[in-house]
Amino acid sequence: MKRPYALLAAAALISIVALASCRPIEKPAQEGGASAASPPEDAASPVQSSSFDATKYENVWVQAIEEIEHDGRSLLRVAYPVTEQDTINARMEAVTQEFIDEWRTIATETEASYQEYKSETGKEAATFITHYRQHFDVTIANRNLIFFDIVRSIHTGGTGASFVVGYIFDRRTGAELTIDDLFVDSGYLQRLSALTREALKERIAREELASDPQWVEDGTAPLAENFDNILFQEDGTILVRFDKYQVAAGVEGVVDVVLPLSAIADLLKPEIRRLLGLDAEAAAPGAGSDLFVADGDLIPLSELTWEALSARLRNRNAVRQPGAGGGHKVALFGLPALSPMMRLSVAAPSRAEQTAEDEIDCHEVACVALTFDDGPSYYTEGLLDTLKEHNVKATFFVLGTQVRIQSDTVQRMFQEGHQIGNHTWDHPNLTHLPDAKIREQLQLTDDLIAQVIGEQTPFLRPPYGAYNDSVLAASGLPIIFWSVDPLDWKDRDAATVAARIADAPVGAIILAHDIHKSTVEAVPAIIAALHGRGIHFVTVSQLFEPQTLRPQNVYIRQTDSPSQ
Ligand code: NI
Repeated sequence: MKRPYALLAAAALISIVALASCRPIEKPAQEGGASAASPPEDAASPVQSSSFDATKYENVWVQAIEEIEHDGRSLLRVAYPVTEQDTINARMEAVTQEFIDEWRTIATETEASYQEYKSETGKEAATFITHYRQHFDVTIANRNLIFFDIVRSIHTGGTGASFVVGYIFDRRTGAELTIDDLFVDSGYLQRLSALTREALKERIAREELASDPQWVEDGTAPLAENFDNILFQEDGTILVRFDKYQVAAGVEGVVDVVLPLSAIADLLKPEIRRLLGLDAEAAAPGAGSDLFVADGDLIPLSELTWEALSARLRNRNAVRQPGAGGGHKVALFGLPALSPMMRLSVAAPSRAEQTAEDEIDCHEVACVALTFDDGPSYYTEGLLDTLKEHNVKATFFVLGTQVRIQSDTVQRMFQEGHQIGNHTWDHPNLTHLPDAKIREQLQLTDDLIAQVIGEQTPFLRPPYGAYNDSVLAASGLPIIFWSVDPLDWKDRDAATVAARIADAPVGAIILAHDIHKSTVEAVPAIIAALHGRGIHFVTVSQLFEPQTLRPQNVYIRQTDSPSQ
């Protein structure tokens, strides 16, 4: 193993240099991100490091690259697998390079906007980190086949999420296999549809999933597009992963159903069964084509239902679903105390003159509420210009960390008739915090907003839409959700974002983020499209008037909107 390792290391080094745009590697690899915490000493030069290490799998290595640029405002950490197969390696390098390119584009654009705002206004701008991470998990590796998941997370400011894509390769040839390639025919879709449908409906019945049976039926119809994310795992299970909104409300995010591999093993091609080493099971006494093995037990296929599997899997599922047991903990952090400098003495700004949009009665005419989270940012002033030009009112759910730096922008929002809501101090998942920390997150932000605009904020939008009884109890405010999510943090393309919002239903609360250039650029087209449909833009409070929003109630959309 020594010799191929050395050769691979040399090959990998060449590829690192290519990946790093031919810049020299300046720093040795560091453990865990210590370098992320301390910005580079010389702000002008980016920090780059890489490492190449063995894994516990034979002939599988991990190539890791880290880059920190723009005084720590742009951060990249990627790792990808390197194997004995050049074809696999080339594919993984290409996949990784795409991710790096995307980071570089977004990071460069974001930094340019930051510098432009500072030089044009002469003010400090609220900053956020463009943070791209990629790692991989090998789930099955033998001499014939390798299954691994590429896990990516993209965070910019408060927004972000993780994505997982599974890859399967034949190690003997380097050929990439699709899920479809593993099965004799499309019968596996029927099986997965039936099993996941039952599992999800059971969760709805137990009130563990914010969805309804029709939503589940649609999202689990036996079509390849509904089952394009199936991850084979080392523990003999498969993870069937549904996209956000596919089978449940957005608050659920990505929804997973875990099944034993044996639930579909009888539908695998004989060749794949052999390569996975499953034939021993098939040859076991009593095991025939009409039986499958679930955690060592044989069950007739005729009895293959979720009910039959769920008891065996329940423990595993419980472990896999953070939040289900309430024991999930994250590192706690201390909030900065408000410094005297932040105690802004602000004369309460006066509201703009009443405008035509202020007179709107959303029970008589069609309305939507456009909302922007995670700001203000250096894009917000330009956004306010656009809104003013079209006399459009919006609602901004701001972060305390951002308000502290761009309080002028928040004052302007208020003066121009927009509404300002609390989105916490620095965007934690409140359901992971003890009660005292939840209150601190909300109170500090409320206090700061009140200092800046001279009024109490009327409502809360919890980060990630995540709340529980503790959050409701601590907030004492109405909670504002959304009914339309254009995924503007994920697809940084103004035309895509505008198209997704253009057909928003009447009465919708639309989620967007004023920390993305593409989102702000999409706003003129969004206004044109909805005005073209005769829809008015109002603040969240106006959408519900004369109804007063009640503390600790959750609002998702206007429920009694007039028909268009
Ligand atoms: Ni947010």
